[in-house]
Formats: sequence, structure tokens, C-alpha cells
Amino acid sequence: MGGKARVTVIGSYNVGLVVNAERLPAWGETLFGNGFSEGPGGKGSNQAVAASRLGGDVSFIGCVGTDRYGDDAISMLKNECIDLTYLKRTAASMTGVGFVFLNKLGDNCIIVDPGANLALMIEDIDRAAQAIEQSDVLLFQLECQLDTVRHGMQTAWKKGKVVILNPAPAQEQLDDLLRYATYVTPNESELKMMNGLPPEQEIGMEECVQLGRNIIAKGPEAVIVTMGERGALIILEDTSYTLPPIAVDAVDTTGAGDSFNAALAVSLAEGKSLADAAAYACAVGAYTVTGREVIPALPTREQMEVFLAAMKEKSDE
Ligand code: RIB
Repeated sequence: MGGKARVTVIGSYNVGLVVNAERLPAWGETLFGNGFSEGPGGKGSNQAVAASRLGGDVSFIGCVGTDRYGDDAISMLKNECIDLTYLKRTAASMTGVGFVFLNKLGDNCIIVDPGANLALMIEDIDRAAQAIEQSDVLLFQLECQLDTVRHGMQTAWKKGKVVILNPAPAQEQLDDLLRYATYVTPNESELKMMNGLPPEQEIGMEECVQLGRNIIAKGPEAVIVTMGERGALIILEDTSYTLPPIAVDAVDTTGAGDSFNAALAVSLAEGKSLADAAAYACAVGAYTVTGREVIPALPTREQMEVFLAAMKEKSDE
């Protein structure tokens, strides 16, 4: 490794349809929201854009529709200097959509209709073998067909690449994928769901570590749990440690997990240690929650330098 970080993201593009609401409606109820906005999203595309802005040489493998949303996706991703050689288009389904509901605290909940994302097939991964070969780190999420994700991870793993699996949205039966992951990056609710627990169940730090170890037993070297305003927890086979949070005023948490994963991928591809890469990723995640909407809130490398310098100055005071 060395030089410009080469990162390939295999995953989703979704248009984000965002609205603020006091609470979620009950079935049969109509509720007023406010502040509607529409913008690019999808975990894969968000991660690709974030990685590119942070200085990575990024290739995005995904699938969008032949509709207007697909056109928007392509011009946005091109504008972000992302290689789209292996981006597929399908007329068979609409570009994916994410309906994002935001509360006053900036917390989000999301319903995704994956649409065209589900048309990314194993053959499409095989066609992109060259991009995979040329990458240092590959990033995957779970908004595409699991078979396709598994095949991509297996291909990368066979080539000796660093494979990051961001297991979002969470699923339980992932053993087939976990064996090909170097690092797995769930948030707390995803960690619980991967272990068959309900996401609302309260768990302590020790239990969290144990749940991470259950995942490590299936193959990965480490599990990095993103914990929002509580920082991150790194779990290895024989040790674990927390990374402290960076205090910021959160206005919109959407995309923070994506920028965390992108920063982790770029830093690892640049040859940083897991601890340093995860610390940088925490800072990038913190920066992201200070801005509204996903793409406008993703920092560039230069913006992160300024942000980190300001944080250091504050802590030296
Ligand atoms: O991680 C945030 C993303 O998840 C949103 O952009 C939404 O589209 C969903 O895919």
C-alpha cells in the first residue's frame, strides 16, 4: 500500500426523500411534517462520495434505473470524481429510494425501497474484477442482493484485499458473508440484530464486547461498533477498547455511519493502523452530523484538517 488510497465501494444508490416530523404516524394516520428535501443517498453511494472527498481514488459498483433519478445519480457521482466504469443501469426497475424521517434531535429512521439496487448481479461483480484487483480496500453494505454482496466479498477476499462489511440494514443470517470480512462495522442496534437480539434491548459494554466476539468467531479480525455520541468500540479477539466521542451539536445523523466507513477505508488503504483509522473515522462521523442532508454534510480532506485542528486547539485550552 502507499500513494493514493484505492477504494472500491460495491453497493447501493438511493434517492433520499427527507422530511422532519415530531413523531412517526400510526397506521391509518396522516401527520404533518416539514422541511422536505430530496437528494442523493444510499449507503454505497454515500460511502463512495465520502471516500473520494477524503482523498481516495474511488470506484463505485452499483445499479441505478434508466429514470430521472438514475441520471441524477450519474451526474452527481461523476462530479465527485468517482469511477463509474462498472455502474450498471436497468430499465426493469426504478432507482432505489430511501424515505428518511428526522426528529428534532437529528435522529433518523429510514425505509428503503431498493429497486434497481437488486438488479446488481454476480455477473456484474465478475465484470468488475479489474477494479477489485486494483483496490486496496473494498467496502460493502447490505442494500443489494446478499448473493451479490457475498460474491463481491469472496472475490476481494480471494485476492487478499482488506474487506470492510458495514452490515446495514442489519440482518441475522450473515455467516456466509462474515467469513470473507476483515472488519465489520455495525452500529449498536445492528450488532444486536446480527446476534438475534431485538434492537431496543438494553445491553452493557461487556455484553457488547461478547456480541462482537460472536461475530469475530465467524471470521473477521475485528468488529468496530459505532456508538454515535458515545464514540466507537473496537473489539478484537483478545482485547477491546473504546474511542472517545468528539462533542459536536448534531443536526442530522443521516450518513454519519457512511462517512465513518469511508474514512476507515481510506485511512486503512493509506496504511494507517486500525486504531488510528478508526479514530479518524470517528472524527469524520462527528463532522457529518453537524450538517443537514447527507452529501452536503460529507467533509473533504481539507475540511477535516481544519476541523481536527480546531478540536485540538479546544482540548489544549
Ligand atoms: O446511511 C444513510 C442512507 O441509508 C440514506 O442515504 C438512505 O438512502 C439509506 O440508504
